[in-house]
Amino acid sequence: MITLENLTKVFPGPGGGADVVALDDISLHIEPGEIHGIVGRSGAGKSTLIRCLTGLEKPTSGSVTIGGTAVSGLEGKQLRAARRKIGMVFQHANLLDSRTAAQNIAHPLQIAGTPKAEIKRRVAELVKLVGLEGREDNYPAQLSGGQIQRVGIARGLAVNPEVLLCDEPTSALDPGTTRQILDLIRSLRDRFGITVIFITHEMAVVREICDHVSLLEHGQLVQTGSLLEVASDPSGRLAQELIPLPPAPTGLNARVVNLDYGDSTSLRTTEDLIAFANTHGAEASLVAGTIETISGVQVGRIQLALRNSSGRPVSDEGLAGFIAACEAEDVLAEEVDAR
Ligand SMILES: Nc1ncnc2c1ncn2[C@@H]1O[C@H](COP(=O)(O)OP(=O)(O)OP(=O)(O)O)[C@@H](O)[C@H]1O
Ligand SMILES: [Mg+2]
Repeated sequence: MITLENLTKVFPGPGGGADVVALDDISLHIEPGEIHGIVGRSGAGKSTLIRCLTGLEKPTSGSVTIGGTAVSGLEGKQLRAARRKIGMVFQHANLLDSRTAAQNIAHPLQIAGTPKAEIKRRVAELVKLVGLEGREDNYPAQLSGGQIQRVGIARGLAVNPEVLLCDEPTSALDPGTTRQILDLIRSLRDRFGITVIFITHEMAVVREICDHVSLLEHGQLVQTGSLLEVASDPSGRLAQELIPLPPAPTGLNARVVNLDYGDSTSLRTTEDLIAFANTHGAEASLVAGTIETISGVQVGRIQLALRNSSGRPVSDEGLAGFIAACEAEDVLAEEVDAR
């Protein structure tokens, strides 16, 4: 549905200073109906990526293709036509204050020259779709943050886009309202097969809604994959953020190891791993852990304290043997300094 090929965007440096490489040679393919999360720190290039997708920003080099159309090469009328395939939802919905919810939703249809009767029908349909019945005639000042975001989503969907671009649409909302908005976006994807790009800095949001996720860093794509792939790849950066582990406590009088496990191991649960340690000559107890179920598969990072049969920290050989046995089972094991 969406293909980025070697997408690069360079901005001239402020005050004639060094150029800013906002996007650096990004290649990425997004399938129809996918909810694709884009994460990365402030300044990583997330919004620039979205602006290149809408054609608002012209790539310095490389290309953007949406539904078979090379958006990056279009101008004028053709660009406007291509943009109709794209809906956008922002952190702040930027509604027109002097217009009601229904009038805000109608706005893109009016711009597109849709006949009045058709606008009326479509707005009623959208109001229902996003759960705003009874609020149509309220002005933005009379709506809650979640309701305003629903108006923003309805407006983004007005022209029946194939792609919905969401730039931090939930970051100003409380957790309960965030969940409702995420449920709404997911149900829109399920019902209409719409492709969603979802920019966020909240890993909880990624876990909740995304099928795939990409990490941008200084304009570069440093990791991308399905949620399960990235969460169960302990060597990657995203696993550590999706499944965080607190620092090990000190003074345990034990050797402490972090274990990362995912879909490739038969040691699926904390109990399996503790039993496995016990069969390798160490008495293991759980110190800390985060376990998530992603796409029906348990992915976890746990911390075990290892002692020998006399309650003393396991020896170097004992620890090395256990770590090697873990790696043979596709569980990444690493000692952490807990003394
Ligand atoms: N129009 C512009 N002119 C010059 N530099 C720009 C322009 N737009 C963005 N940049 C620079 O490009 C880089 C990426 O910016 P971008 O807005 O894409 O980051 P972001 O990942 O969306 O950050 P945030 O999480 O803060 O929204 C930044 O260094 C920014 O200063
Ligand atoms: Mg941004």
